[in-house]
Amino acid sequence: MRLTEPAPFLVTSTLAVLSSHALAANVSTLATKLQAISAEVFPGLKAIAVDIWNNPEVGLSEHHAHDLVVDYFTSQQPGEWVVTPHAYGMETAFKLDFEFRVPAVNPNTPLPVIGFLAEYDALPGIGHACGHNHIALNGLAAASMVRAAVVQLGIPARVVVMGTPDEEGEAGKHKLLQAGAFDGVDVWFMAHPTSANAVQPMNARINAVAQFRGTQHGDVVRAAYETLVAVRDRAAGGLPGTASSVVAVEDVGMFASNVVQSRISLGINGSTLEVVQQTVSSILDSTYPGVTFTAANDCTGGVNLTTFGPGGHASESTKSPLVLTIETFRALSSQEGVSFYLPGNASTTALDITFDIRSRYTLDLNSVLNVVTSTIGSNAAAIVTDTIYPALEVTPFLPGVFIDLLKTDAYGAQTNWGVSSFAPASTDAAWLQNAVVDPTTKALIKADRVVFHPNFGICAPNGTGPCAFNHEPPFRDVAGTEYSYSRTEIVARALAHVAVELLNNKTMMAEATEILGR
Ligand SMILES: *[C@@H]1O[C@H](CO)[C@@H](O)[C@H](O)[C@H]1NC(C)=O
Ligand SMILES: *[C@@H]1O[C@H](CO)[C@@H](O)[C@H](O)[C@H]1NC(C)=O
Ligand SMILES: *[C@@H]1O[C@H](CO)[C@@H](O)[C@H](O)[C@H]1NC(C)=O
Ligand SMILES: *[C@@H]1O[C@H](CO)[C@@H](O)[C@H](O)[C@H]1NC(C)=O
Ligand SMILES: *[C@@H]1O[C@H](CO)[C@@H](O)[C@H](O)[C@H]1NC(C)=O
Ligand SMILES: *[C@@H]1O[C@H](CO)[C@@H](O)[C@H](O)[C@H]1NC(C)=O
Repeated sequence: MRLTEPAPFLVTSTLAVLSSHALAANVSTLATKLQAISAEVFPGLKAIAVDIWNNPEVGLSEHHAHDLVVDYFTSQQPGEWVVTPHAYGMETAFKLDFEFRVPAVNPNTPLPVIGFLAEYDALPGIGHACGHNHIALNGLAAASMVRAAVVQLGIPARVVVMGTPDEEGEAGKHKLLQAGAFDGVDVWFMAHPTSANAVQPMNARINAVAQFRGTQHGDVVRAAYETLVAVRDRAAGGLPGTASSVVAVEDVGMFASNVVQSRISLGINGSTLEVVQQTVSSILDSTYPGVTFTAANDCTGGVNLTTFGPGGHASESTKSPLVLTIETFRALSSQEGVSFYLPGNASTTALDITFDIRSRYTLDLNSVLNVVTSTIGSNAAAIVTDTIYPALEVTPFLPGVFIDLLKTDAYGAQTNWGVSSFAPASTDAAWLQNAVVDPTTKALIKADRVVFHPNFGICAPNGTGPCAFNHEPPFRDVAGTEYSYSRTEIVARALAHVAVELLNNKTMMAEATEILGR
């Protein structure tokens, strides 16, 4: 339905409010409209997501993903969006922009603006084991649905998609934020696939890379492992803040930022195969789920201990293959004549360990970092930190609207959604929000931007398909299933529904953005 009613030239705020009500479109059939729109737009965009999944690229090298999106909207669907490749000075960032104005309305009237975030970076070595192909799909699909719906309904609006590189490594959204990429948008939406549905906060995070250097390989390995033991003990004694954690990642073999390795090798010299086997067996118990090991004499005369495990998310609290080698080091390191080396790398005198530090609230992160760096102390030649990821807080209002909508038949009659206080991971989308919480009550006081970031489950129900948690290698398979794409279609359509309502209803927009005015 197009609006034909001529709008008066608005001079007073009272008139503007009255007029805005008169101009609101009737969206009572929006759910049905969006189903029809989705049938048109989703398949082509899903093909892009499948291509991204098949061709994983780590942060800042997402050229194929960038080009797929840019080519699709410039060549295959030309004229719908203003397409900006390489946006804001980032080679693999893109922007899509669309404005719809009703001819009768004063062209100077500012438009309400909805933004969608798209991510498409993969994890080193394990492909799309965080499912960012779905984040790209969700952003592109929801935005395309909103675009078509506002045109059909005659709702003046602007819609933006920001393609944001390198979520996993160096906080691509932080760079884009500084370049102004997120300005001028009323509400930002994204959605992250995971193993279960929840609107929930995300942790603050920082990585501290401790660099161990020396002249003798054995001394460097010993210094690194002594430090790993010390940090484990310090963490076991309690870290400051709420739900704080520190997880170590060793920079050899399958090292990857933001990935807990599924395989670690530690060489032990001056002991025997039997002693190593007995020692490891006495440590390995049910607190190491899925962890196994092999030990064998290697050609240098030492014992090559290699530990294997599910790997997984750096925030995971279960004991990893690296923890098993740390505890083996602890048990054997005081024995006379025992030394340690890195099998296959027994001459390197440079070994880096990444300490992935997380805490529920941004304001506690520095104290946790200080505890970790002081525990590392002078064992390391240097400690380098990366860009922090602030905590993402759940902004009020939109979660309720979204969850109520998902209960309706058009959105799968989903009753297993809720708002949870548990923070399962971290996201650089927190940079847009820049939440301020009360230091005592931890209640959200204000935010720079409204960011709505639900996490949605993509594991098929009843164990009929693979299931895993983000960053575990099997999550890549989950993120490639037909079932996962069907979940993203529903979430994108529901977000589009909420977005169209916001664009059409000033009261609702004011409620959603109330947190900004404080
Ligand atoms: C909105 O449209 C529906 C379906 O066409 C109709 O039943 C309803 O009366 C309309 N509401 C208003 C306020 O015009
Ligand atoms: C040896 O160390 C280098 C540098 O840390 C690393 O790139 C390489 O993968 C390591 N090789 C093995 C077999 O662990
Ligand atoms: C293990 O110790 C032996 C005897 O001291 C030495 O020859 C060998 O180089 C050592 N191997 C490693 C990997 O350090
Ligand atoms: C150490 O053992 C693992 C597991 O058997 C093996 O894959 C690796 O190649 C070994 N490293 C060396 C240097 O022999
Ligand atoms: C299978 O999953 C569906 C949808 O989640 C659920 O309604 C049903 O009860 C499940 N069946 C069994 C046997 O678990
Ligand atoms: C606009 O949004 C407000 C707040 O959510 C709601 O109470 C009201 O019913 C909405 N108006 C229309 C016409 O849907």
